[in-house]
Amino acid sequence: MSRAARLAVAGVCAALAGLFVAMIVGGAATPRIIPGLPDEGTLTRWALPISKLAMDVAGVVTVGLLLLATALLPSDKGLLGKPALAYTRAAAWTGLAWAVAAASTLVFSLSETLGTPVAEVIGGNELASYASQASQGIALTLVVLFGAAIALFARGAITAGASAGLLVLALATLMPPALTGHSSSAPNHGLATTSVALHLLVLSLWVGGLLLLVVHALRGGPRLDVAAARFSRMALWCFAGVGLSGVFSAISRLTSVQELFTSSYGLIIVAKVVAFAVLGVIGWWHRERTLPEVSAGKPGAFTRLAGVEGLIMLLTVGLAVALSRTAPPPLDQPVDRAYELLGYLVPPPVSLANLATLWWFDLFFAVIAVLLAGLYAAGVVRLRRRGDHWPVGRTVSWGFGVLVLVLLTQSGIARYAPVLFSVHMAEHMVLSMIVPIFLVLGAPVTLALRALRPAARRGDRGPREWLTVILHSRVMKVVSHPAVATAIFITSTYALYFTPLFAGAMEEHLGHIAMTLHFLLSGSLFFWVIVGIDPAPVKLPYVGRLLLLFVTMPFHAFFGIALMSMSTVIASEWYDQLGRTWGASSLSDQSTGGGIAWAFGEIPTLIVIIALAFQWYRDEDRRTKRADRRADAKAAKEGGSGDAELDAYNAYLAKLDRGGK
Ligand code: HEM
Repeated sequence: MSRAARLAVAGVCAALAGLFVAMIVGGAATPRIIPGLPDEGTLTRWALPISKLAMDVAGVVTVGLLLLATALLPSDKGLLGKPALAYTRAAAWTGLAWAVAAASTLVFSLSETLGTPVAEVIGGNELASYASQASQGIALTLVVLFGAAIALFARGAITAGASAGLLVLALATLMPPALTGHSSSAPNHGLATTSVALHLLVLSLWVGGLLLLVVHALRGGPRLDVAAARFSRMALWCFAGVGLSGVFSAISRLTSVQELFTSSYGLIIVAKVVAFAVLGVIGWWHRERTLPEVSAGKPGAFTRLAGVEGLIMLLTVGLAVALSRTAPPPLDQPVDRAYELLGYLVPPPVSLANLATLWWFDLFFAVIAVLLAGLYAAGVVRLRRRGDHWPVGRTVSWGFGVLVLVLLTQSGIARYAPVLFSVHMAEHMVLSMIVPIFLVLGAPVTLALRALRPAARRGDRGPREWLTVILHSRVMKVVSHPAVATAIFITSTYALYFTPLFAGAMEEHLGHIAMTLHFLLSGSLFFWVIVGIDPAPVKLPYVGRLLLLFVTMPFHAFFGIALMSMSTVIASEWYDQLGRTWGASSLSDQSTGGGIAWAFGEIPTLIVIIALAFQWYRDEDRRTKRADRRADAKAAKEGGSGDAELDAYNAYLAKLDRGGK
């Protein structure tokens, strides 16, 4: 047996050991005795977590293979090298294993839900409806489909672009079960689902990347030094991300620190924290000792230590799956329907003071805001250190945009937006028409292109090259075309509110995130075309941009008027379930929301006109100076005065003089 195969067997044993021990300690191995409910049987009790573990491990390994092929190993002018091709082919097999493990998890989940032995589930009629109608069933069906798609397409992928696409698909495949698992029924389900989703996203890159790096080292693969150095740069961020998201995940389920030591759920978390700390020490040792040795061509110590690290990671994944099967400690306060839907009690009557003080932590947008602010600041600092100039106005504009984003997603506005349509509409308008203007005036792409260093090897792709590929991609050309960007900006508002989409987005946490992101992105696309500083595939002249703005804004006013004249409540079921006892009726509040949409267009229009006038003036000024410089140079060559206008005037006088004689 090869060393890589021996490590794989040891890894499976470590993951199973972690799972079994934590299931016994946590109580997931004991039959659930609920009076009146049948038991699903011993087979399901053990086979369901094992299938789930297989699904997690197959997912992590698939992500690792595609990460190694796409980003850790160097590519050549966009084509995958020989080892990267082999890893992409291997991802076809792990993608298939992922799909099979998800299918078996689907069957065992239904057996558990119905409390029926698995043999009866397979022969019964419920499987099809569970797979297509229950949220957990749909999530697992998606994993089966996406896993199969990876299996199919990974066989033919030969470019770094194709393997990057597959990597994105693999990361997306991790999401559906994370968003519908038992985290979605936690009291603070917003925090619970977002933190588990982020946890899985980051840890799959970290664990998958490390496992595959070990395999690459054991097989004596080429460019280990490059791959290990690139992984090490990424691993520190992943380590921090896994720790933070794990802590937020724990906070969303536990109500006190004591529960860490008094509940079996808490004890498994403590075991994970210990493993996490050990992994931190190993990571530090790699940086200090083993990585310099890899650069010096001696990978032995790195491979041995990383092998042990991989085993601890897999053991922790086993613990994690048992954790997800263990019931968190019960809440000590009763939870009403509004609490279940919102993750908090319906707030007191809305007022400016409450909007300003009742803050609500939204992890997803907090992460987005930290990334936007942090990456921009890092870019500016790098330019400054190099002695390059970056206009302060752009930094201020970007900072202001991020600040407003934080206010909208973390303050009382975020707490009241799901409760009152009028607050939601104000949030929507600012998110899609104010924040984007300030963000695009920050010229983030120009900053990134200046701050990111080109790849060390010609033909290879680092972050700068990937950004250029995305900017020049056909998709980008299409969506950033003024006509397309405007169509998306206008039609999505109508499509959201005048179809069942809005009700769906309110009820699902993922839907809510997607809706908020859509407001931000569609607005950014539109205002990039209108006032963006960054280069765009199609740039309209200033007059064209103003015209486009004036044609677009009335559509929002029409939308507002349509809302104001409606006699039915959009997503009425959602608002009824909240049972708000204060303030205007849902219909009257919706009409107020319409009024906000109707009146709002003036503010962005004014900001855009000022920005455009300023840009236009600067452009004219620059063009005049350039023309003067060119004329000066020409005049100097022909022996003129060096002042273009003066020379022209002298020539005119000379002509008059000649005419006079
Ligand atoms: C500070 C350290 C960590 C904490 C506090 C933590 C906490 C958590 C919590 C609370 C969950 C949700 C479980 C549930 O659904 O009830 C979770 C899920 C998970 N954790 Fe961690 N974790 C930590 C580190 C790690 C590490 C180091 C790994 C792997 C190397 C890991 C792997 C996972 C996996 C795979 C899941 C998803 C399990 C599933 O639903 O299938 N965690 N973690």
